[in-house]
Amino acid sequence: NVQQRVFSGVQPTGNLHLGNYLGAIKRFAELQDSFDCLYCVVDMHAITPDMRVWGGPAELSRNIREVTAAYLAAGIDPQKNIIFNQSQVSGHAELAWVFNCVARLGWLNRMTQFKEKAGKDRENASVGLYAYPNLMAADILLYHATHVPVGEDQKQHIELTRDIAQKFNNDFAESIASNGFGESYFPLTEPLIGGPAARVMSLRDGSKKMSKSDPSDLSRINLTDDADAVASKIRKAKTDPEPLPTELDGLKGRPEAENLVGIYAALSGASKEEVLESYGGGQFSTFKGALVELAVERLGPIGNEMKRLVADPGHIDAVLRDGAARARAIAEVTMAQVKDIVGF
Ligand code: ADP
Ligand code: NA
Repeated sequence: NVQQRVFSGVQPTGNLHLGNYLGAIKRFAELQDSFDCLYCVVDMHAITPDMRVWGGPAELSRNIREVTAAYLAAGIDPQKNIIFNQSQVSGHAELAWVFNCVARLGWLNRMTQFKEKAGKDRENASVGLYAYPNLMAADILLYHATHVPVGEDQKQHIELTRDIAQKFNNDFAESIASNGFGESYFPLTEPLIGGPAARVMSLRDGSKKMSKSDPSDLSRINLTDDADAVASKIRKAKTDPEPLPTELDGLKGRPEAENLVGIYAALSGASKEEVLESYGGGQFSTFKGALVELAVERLGPIGNEMKRLVADPGHIDAVLRDGAARARAIAEVTMAQVKDIVGF
């Protein structure tokens, strides 16, 4: 088995935003030199909410290409890494079924994302939305991934992935040993969460995370926003009337200020402390001006490259086809072994 492998994914549900970039895609690119990486466009997760949310077939196809374009534009090398979409590798669905039979209802009942996404009308949520964490565990464990870079919001799902791996390893311990896999078959995967932007907040409300589904376009910076849109969203971002503090402690209880400082830090590669050393004590408008400049400088080239790539769907589809073939080669080995272990 592989020593250090990274798996992660982004849903093709449109409106890719700064939170997806700083919490996930930018970090995917940073990990590619130190790990063996698979980066997936998780299209089977995308269809778990109501069709009005994911937009229907044409929109889904478009969004699959857009996420792929974002991966490439962020500098993820499709030769060094495996870039593919989930639905093209049947092992994800097959292993998810086995995990549906390993995970307990009580475990899934504790998942906060389901509660948030299902809302009040829980009876009407899809079974897929409920079982989503089992599919996510399958995504990760199909490749024996040891590390998963994700935003803070996914921490609970990674814990569930470990619980599933552990129960599978325990339930099938004898079979795992007699099939020659030793003491355990699946690794206990670690999340890689961190940095100053593990949880980027809405620009309109510091208590909510920046999200694809927020009805207010002013709440998020989309990766395809042009410079004018980025500038006006940052200038209009909600803040309090106080100047920036000079020390980290002074950000307590000021979520909007903390969010903008975190964004600046993540985009510039500095720590929040360093950002406050430069801008603390000054007016917010000065800091916002610097943030606009930095954001436009860092995001502009990515947005432009995404637009260029999306205009050439043949190239994107070829990247996905090649990635799927390479992912399948790994997945097929795992599924053959899992079937032996389960007794199928
Ligand atoms: P979303 O949550 O926007 O629907 P996904 O579920 O596809 O997007 O998440 C893709 C990745 O982006 C995940 O690793 C998730 O943790 C990360 N992510 C999403 N929103 C944020 C945010 N506001 N801040 C930091 N990371 C985020
Ligand atoms: Na790599």
